Amino acid sequence: MSKIRVEGLKYRYPDMDKLVLDNLNFEVEKGAFIGIIGENTAGKSTLCYALTGLVPNFFKGAYGGTILIDDLDEISDVTRKVGLVFDQPFSQMTGSKTTVYEEIAFGLENSGVEREEMRIRIDESLRLMDIEHLQNKNPYDLSGGQMQRVAIASVLAMKPDVIVLDEPTSQLDPKGSDEVFQVITKLAKSGITIIMAEHKLEKLAEYASKILLLHKGKQIAFGSPEEVFSRDDILEYGIAPPVYTRIAKAVKPKTQAGFYPVTMKDLMQQWNVGDK
Ligand SMILES: Nc1ncnc2c1ncn2[C@@H]1O[C@H](COP(=O)(O)OP(=O)(O)O)[C@@H](O)[C@H]1O
Ligand SMILES: [Mg+2]
Repeated sequence: MSKIRVEGLKYRYPDMDKLVLDNLNFEVEKGAFIGIIGENTAGKSTLCYALTGLVPNFFKGAYGGTILIDDLDEISDVTRKVGLVFDQPFSQMTGSKTTVYEEIAFGLENSGVEREEMRIRIDESLRLMDIEHLQNKNPYDLSGGQMQRVAIASVLAMKPDVIVLDEPTSQLDPKGSDEVFQVITKLAKSGITIIMAEHKLEKLAEYASKILLLHKGKQIAFGSPEEVFSRDDILEYGIAPPVYTRIAKAVKPKTQAGFYPVTMKDLMQQWNVGDK
């Protein structure tokens, strides 16, 4: 079973004097969808790098605590099992391949996956990302949303246990953003563990099982979207809660459980409106 346990994680970039990750402690169950939120410079990207081993292996710096995956804490195991998708799809393309198919094949070729197995994995990734029809196109002729789906497909084909996405839709227009969220939802349903830094809280409210709120490198909260978005002090951390939560906050007291609704569905249910 693939479970991630982060214990006392601390990190400081080389030659910097302040901790960028300051004592993080949380656990992620297999198949969970975790949203990482926080204002700019909160440490979201750095945490994504730590989860994939880039911190401290690539960025160096001072590191403390442990990240245990399946109770293995060797970074080589971590990097093997965790795939990372960056915010900028363009920068993730190899730059040397002329078709989407070859682009996705690149990582597999490098890790010596057999031809037949390679074909199966690429077909599966293309299907999951809804890009079968693009497989013979040049990656650089694609839209941002399509390119990001190719980037995710390339990561998926490596069969990671966990996929970490660092604001994968921040560089995309609304259409591209929707396309990417749609395939991420599909991924979540497929049972793969997803950890995603994201600004679009309405989307996280809908899909995330838990939210990790960071502020200046510190872990402020780790709980359900209802629990975290209902916090009365959330604005202090530079977070405007989802629009449905704001509406509910403005006009109604909290629910019996002490939380505000976070999605339109929840809000309508609480107010007994809509389909019966
Ligand atoms: N390569 C780096 N070297 C030094 N400091 C960095 C580096 N990358 C990020 N930082 C600093 O680390 C802090 C957290 O940054 P980051 O993880 O990018 O936050 P977020 O993704 O939440 O915006 C910021 O203060 C940022 O300036
Ligand atoms: Mg970032």
